Amino acid sequence: MGKIKTTIIKVSKQNPEKNLIAKGANIIKSGGLVAFPTETVYGLGADGLNEEAVKKIFLAKGRPQDNPLILHVADKEQVYPLVKSISKEAQRLMESFWPGPLTLLFKRSSLVPNCITAGLDTVAIRMPNHPIALALIQASDVPIAAPSANTSGKPSPTLASHVIEDLNGKIHMIIDGGKTGIGVESTVLDLSGDKPLILRPGGVTLEELREHLPYVEEDLSLIKDDKDIVPKSPGQKYKHYAPKGEMYLFVGSVDNMVQAIEEYANRYIHMGKKVGIMATEETKAKYKEGIILSLGSRENKEEIAQNLFSTLRMFDEKDVDIILAEGIDFKDIGMAIMNRMKKAAGGNIIKV
Ligand code: TXA
Ligand code: MG
Repeated sequence: MGKIKTTIIKVSKQNPEKNLIAKGANIIKSGGLVAFPTETVYGLGADGLNEEAVKKIFLAKGRPQDNPLILHVADKEQVYPLVKSISKEAQRLMESFWPGPLTLLFKRSSLVPNCITAGLDTVAIRMPNHPIALALIQASDVPIAAPSANTSGKPSPTLASHVIEDLNGKIHMIIDGGKTGIGVESTVLDLSGDKPLILRPGGVTLEELREHLPYVEEDLSLIKDDKDIVPKSPGQKYKHYAPKGEMYLFVGSVDNMVQAIEEYANRYIHMGKKVGIMATEETKAKYKEGIILSLGSRENKEEIAQNLFSTLRMFDEKDVDIILAEGIDFKDIGMAIMNRMKKAAGGNIIKV
């Protein structure tokens, strides 16, 4: 792919400057790529109805063709032309959770290009809760296709600097709107089967969804660590969120995790490895060796979600060979955090 000049602009989150948003929208309308902040992570946007533009997303990210994209809309009306129908359940969820980190699957209409859905008969749609994202979609006047704005396989970007690191020279514009809010991606929910299924845990939690949909379950592939269960969401089958260092995720009581991590750290350091420890506020002072980074307090999992991807990238910057990570509990946003940590560890899970 030829080198592209990437324009980087700072835009106010509270009051997105109209003239700057118009610049981004013009790029989208003319088939280019614009990275922009959402409330979850930065997205890499293109005109979702322009097949050629959407193909550029896959090239810039190095994303496998069989992994479908989410279409982002600025209001609920924009969904109708993209889908066959909207069920009562979907209506209610859109009322309750949009704008917000909930992606819903609908039967697609013929307007949606094949490369968006990777040949599936469903299309994923969400309305992001971020003034810059909403302004950009409105000004572009098309649904914007946007995966996370990282190189495929790397941790998702929560800062513009992460996008610059991965995509500078490969896309036309990066809109810097500061740090994203939630820090992990949206929840992907499938309403097409017998019971509603979470295909990817994310910013809207299982507990929140159950208040509206008592029977919602998680896709089996998310619960069982069984490689033979094929995930319903293509994106879940790839190694993902992976730092350069080899990561080990520890699961168990806090005391057991700390003890086991200390033993592993000691062993690897004696082998001459550079070791990083992904700790929490409650535990960070207990470690004696290694590069220790805290994700935040176990009492504040929202903070842990916000810091997860940037911390993984920091270990890369420090060139660690091994990352030893403490697990956290699965309640609320913990489910999305642990899903990302497990993928980052590529199956290296140590129960203690
Ligand atoms: O928070 C988010 O969702 C961010 C921001 C930018 O909106 N976007 C994001 O996109 O995380 P991406 O492409 O990195 O992840 C989309 C996930 C993938 O796991 C993909 O396989 C799944 O959604 N997906 C998309 N369309 C699907 C479909 N029709 N059926 C099943 N899974 C689908
Ligand atoms: Mg992604």
